[in-house]
Amino acid sequence: MSDKKIFNYPGEKIDVHWDGRLCIHIAECGKASGDLFVTGRQPWCVPDQTNNDEVAEICERCPSGALTYTDKSGAAEKTPAENTVNIAYNGPLYVRGDLAIEDAADDMQGAKYRAALCRCGHSKNKPFCDNSHLDAGFQDFAVIGESGAGLKNKGGKLEIKPLPDGPLLLSGNVSMVTASGRVAWQGDSVALCRCGESKNKPFCDGSHKAAGFRSD
Ligand code: FES
Repeated sequence: MSDKKIFNYPGEKIDVHWDGRLCIHIAECGKASGDLFVTGRQPWCVPDQTNNDEVAEICERCPSGALTYTDKSGAAEKTPAENTVNIAYNGPLYVRGDLAIEDAADDMQGAKYRAALCRCGHSKNKPFCDNSHLDAGFQDFAVIGESGAGLKNKGGKLEIKPLPDGPLLLSGNVSMVTASGRVAWQGDSVALCRCGESKNKPFCDGSHKAAGFRSD
């Protein structure tokens, strides 16, 4: 796990927080219209440039969970009504929902709702993605050929347990979405590859053993 790196951007009615342990510089924030985030400005984020609703909405776009906020009126980030895993083309697993990630630090507020999880096996910040898939040349089209058992209910806690030297074990109602945007798989229990070697990605097929995958 990388060093603690939380930066706070105070505003009159709402504060913004950025967690460097989770950020992989997708830059949803930087592309948002308006002056909430301005690259090169000091400070980078000025919450008083806009209203609370927009600050919340832009922070909640952040797919890695690096951005969060504290609304001084007491309003908290809403837990998503569904749990989803978006499989990125040649990239990580973007998880969103009511998350309980076993190896997340207690003060990783954003990882309770959103996270980018490594599936190439090369991150130095497992279970989180650190963009090592780029240097590793990880390739996967992020298609899903199975449909799962389906869902009786949606939402509820999604527990994510990174098994030592093995897959990510997900327990709870979850839908998985391909890179093309298709909701392809639904169920309440699944083991997802995080070594990068499965022949049936995004699922674990046991290849981590022959590959000698080490999770730490
Ligand atoms: S973790 Fe990759 S095949 Fe099991």
